[in-house]
Amino acid sequence: MTTIFSDIGGDASSNAPEIDYTVLGRDIMERVETLAMHTEQEGMMTRTYLTAAHRGAATQIAVWMREAGMTVRSDASGNVIGRYEGTDPSSAIVMTGSHFDTVRNGGKYDGPLGILLPIGCVAGWNRQGQRFPFPIEVVAFCEEEGVRFKSPLLGSRAIAGTFETRALDNVDDDGVTMREAMLAEGLDPAQLPCAAMSKGSVAAYLEVHIEQGPVLLEENRALGVVTAISGSSRFTLALEGVAGHAGTVPMTSRHDAAMAGAEIALYIEQRCNASPGLVGTVGQFDVPDGAGNVIPGRAVMSIDIRAGEDALRSDAVDDIQAEIAQICTRRGIHANLNKTYEAASVGCADWLQQRLTDSMQRNGCTPRSLPSGAGHDGMIIATIAPIAMLFVRCGNGGISHNPGETMSAEDAAMASRVFVDFVENFSVPTTQ
Ligand code: GLV
Ligand code: MN
Ligand code: MN
Repeated sequence: MTTIFSDIGGDASSNAPEIDYTVLGRDIMERVETLAMHTEQEGMMTRTYLTAAHRGAATQIAVWMREAGMTVRSDASGNVIGRYEGTDPSSAIVMTGSHFDTVRNGGKYDGPLGILLPIGCVAGWNRQGQRFPFPIEVVAFCEEEGVRFKSPLLGSRAIAGTFETRALDNVDDDGVTMREAMLAEGLDPAQLPCAAMSKGSVAAYLEVHIEQGPVLLEENRALGVVTAISGSSRFTLALEGVAGHAGTVPMTSRHDAAMAGAEIALYIEQRCNASPGLVGTVGQFDVPDGAGNVIPGRAVMSIDIRAGEDALRSDAVDDIQAEIAQICTRRGIHANLNKTYEAASVGCADWLQQRLTDSMQRNGCTPRSLPSGAGHDGMIIATIAPIAMLFVRCGNGGISHNPGETMSAEDAAMASRVFVDFVENFSVPTTQ
């Protein structure tokens, strides 16, 4: 079988073949499948931070980076960074990448596409002996989803120098702190500041990612250029009521923590329904130590509020906080609302959007701009570099964070063409 990757690493030859994008697209899809074998749960795609599956994926990615002609290093957070050296030692890097952690029972493409696609393109350049003035760094970000320790975007934060050390005390469902998990994996939290890159060191960051929505699919387009990434506010809400006997306590005398949570969740749905562009999700809802014959004394829920416009989000957060207070007072419940994450919406650089649009046009792909409702590592990297994102069409109705997430080899091929064209034509404008 012909593969783009198989004979990488041999001598570069001046008459080495051009990249065969059909083969590359198919090989990217095969590698997505291979990486998906590193999972915590048999038959599901679950790879959370600092687990054996996570370590296995990191090792596999490093192997592929080396085979593609890159030098590989890792940092104290667990990021794996492949570097394809440039010819000008003083040049700032062009950074690309995405994350290799996943949600529980998620999809295979959310994250890995943005790692495996650039590795494939670098392999092609290496095979041709092609170098650019600037180095290219492909970053496999160790943690973006925030699943295990309820703190997202840890890998990009380490690189941006904004990793909050208090997150090291966050615990997973088994009571293991992030600090303990890092040490057990041989990562030294004290070295986290060394992972930071300085502002001028990255000329631009381009992340390739599946759209995770239906827009491109419904418009029959392979690719889209992201205009901005939505901001988000996330909370954990712990509700304390009074546990009691399900058969003996009259309805009017109850302080049911789960019912208070249910009323709050329904308010969030109603509030977000009322404002186009605003979305709210209660993705976790636990009744710790609950039983069918016990009135819930405790309930713990997550709240995730997002919008492209920051004012829309902060107004909704204010209203939700007021409603939580009102519901809990009426029901005699104690509420402890803890903000776990907040990020403002982040715009993609206009000049990079234009470069991506030009690359799409040169490759016969009609440009389409769209915002990203999902969060991405780029929103953190934006604090040290101008960012851009290339969205690739999802199949299956645009579903994501779901095992039904899919995309096609043809679209992987087209995204690779555009990525290659973007890099081959890259230069920093004199005025940005
Ligand atoms: C990441 O996928 C997020 O948007 O939560
Ligand atoms: Mn993602
Ligand atoms: Mn995701």
